[in-house]
Amino acid sequence: MKFFIDTANLQEIQEAYEMGILDGVTTNPSLMAKEGITGYNNILNHYVKICQIVDGPVSAEVISTEFQGMLEEGQALFDLHPNIVVKIPMIPEGIKAIRAFSDKNIPTNCTLVFSAGQALLAAKAGATYISPFLGRLDDVSSDGLDLISQIRAIYDNYDFDTQILAASVRHPMHIVHCATLGADVMTAPLSAIKALAKHPLTDIGLQQFLADHAKGNA
Ligand code: E4P
Repeated sequence: MKFFIDTANLQEIQEAYEMGILDGVTTNPSLMAKEGITGYNNILNHYVKICQIVDGPVSAEVISTEFQGMLEEGQALFDLHPNIVVKIPMIPEGIKAIRAFSDKNIPTNCTLVFSAGQALLAAKAGATYISPFLGRLDDVSSDGLDLISQIRAIYDNYDFDTQILAASVRHPMHIVHCATLGADVMTAPLSAIKALAKHPLTDIGLQQFLADHAKGNA
C-alpha cells in the first residue's frame, strides 16, 4: 500500500519524506487555507514547493464546479509539474472532466467519494485514483471501511485500473484496516502515520535492553 500524507504543511511533508516512507501528497482547499496559503499564484507556488520535496504524485484540487472551468484549472495545475494529479470532485461535471483528462493521459483523483456507485462511475470515466472518505463516513455512523471493501470487490470483478486512495484517515488502525482490505493507497495526517510506530512493549523492551547493556558495561 502506498503512503501519501494529507497536508499542505511543508515541514510535515519534509518530516514524512525524511522517514523514507512517503509515496505522495494529497491536499485540498481546506488544508491550503489552514496553512494560510491564499490567492491563485501563492497556491500554485505552494504546489511547486510540495513537488520539490516529494518525488511522487501530488493531488491539487480544482475549485471550479463546471466542466470548462475544471478543464482550464486542471490543465494549469498539471502544467506546473509532471507529478501533479488533478483532484476533481465527484459531481456529474467532474465525471465529464475526469473522462476528458483521462483521454489526454492527465492523472486524476476523484475526491469526495462516499458510495460504491460513485466509485464505479469514476472508474468508468477513467479516474487514476478515487478517494473514499473513511473518517467522514464514520462521523455519520456509516462504516467507512465497509465502503473500501465494497469498492475493492467491484474493481477486482472488472479489473479496473483505478486505484483506491483511502482518505479522511484519522488514526493508525484505519491505516492497518485499509492495508488488510487491499486499498492501493492511503492518505493520512503525519500524526496517524507516526502513531503506527508506537507500542508500549517496544518502549519497555528497549529500556530494558539499554539498562542491561549499561549494567554489563559499567
Ligand atoms: C482527501 O484527499 C482529503 O484531503 C482528506 O483526506 C479529507 O480528510 P478530513 O475528513 O480529515 O478532512
